[in-house]
Amino acid sequence: MTDLYAVIGNPIAQSKSPLLHTAFARQFGHDLRYDAILAAPDAFRETVQAFVAAGGRGMNVTAPFKLEAAELADTLTDRARAAGAVNTLTFGPEGILGDNTDGVGLVGDIQDRLGFSLVDRRVLVIGAGGAARGILLPLLLARPASVLVVNRTAARAQALAEAMAHAGPIQAGPLEAAGGWEYDVVIHATSAGLNEGEAPAVDYRVADDGLAYDLAYGADTPFMRQARDRGAAQVADGLGMLVGQAAESYRVWRGVLPDVRPVLEQLALV
Ligand code: ATR
Repeated sequence: MTDLYAVIGNPIAQSKSPLLHTAFARQFGHDLRYDAILAAPDAFRETVQAFVAAGGRGMNVTAPFKLEAAELADTLTDRARAAGAVNTLTFGPEGILGDNTDGVGLVGDIQDRLGFSLVDRRVLVIGAGGAARGILLPLLLARPASVLVVNRTAARAQALAEAMAHAGPIQAGPLEAAGGWEYDVVIHATSAGLNEGEAPAVDYRVADDGLAYDLAYGADTPFMRQARDRGAAQVADGLGMLVGQAAESYRVWRGVLPDVRPVLEQLALV
């Protein structure tokens, strides 16, 4: 029998998730169908329930429903609780499990595809909204020397740093706290700079062998251009992270981790 999965969001037509999961299923010969489901802004819960009633096994959740998905879940994994958001729902006999695979997708992309170790590196994260919160725990678990979170609203960064302090060396401040210092890795996690806007004007330098990574994706984002001006030799957008989070979701559902290489090749990322 064909197993049913889907991604739910609004908008959803642009989603690459059906393509990714269909490619993963082919690797294992799994018989599954993966749809893209558009939910009205006020109909997330009903839409999920209808999917479960139709036999759905699992769902990826994208904007704007990741917080609602965390509320809907009966149980949360540690990383979903730390993220305060859920991008992966699993429907089982014990109820709904909420997980978050975004951070693992990011760390995997940085370490495996880009071949860049995070161990003992100085990391700057720009932004303290949902996207930043989603990645911080897996980032700290990769054992960097330090993580500094800076944000336009400094209090939000401070709250995140306090919530994550148990997991590793993390500090926070306003955008100015980046202070013109040099970082090995700079991660852009604000929503500024999408749709032709500008990335926040943060003063940082990127080490010669450093990496600048935009969680958003697009051929050449404003942050990627800014980071090159600040000395970054290696810059990346978030497409590889998208593939990585999808692979980890697949593992959560099916117990096997897909090989991301062929998919990255198809997307011209390797
Ligand atoms: P997301 O889920 O995409 O992270 P969010 O939770 O609304 O969305 O967070 C948006 C992030 O982008 C925040 O860090 C926000 O800064 P504030 O906390 O100060 O609002 C940041 N952001 C959005 N527009 C910005 C801008 N023009 N300049 C600097 N930061 C901006």
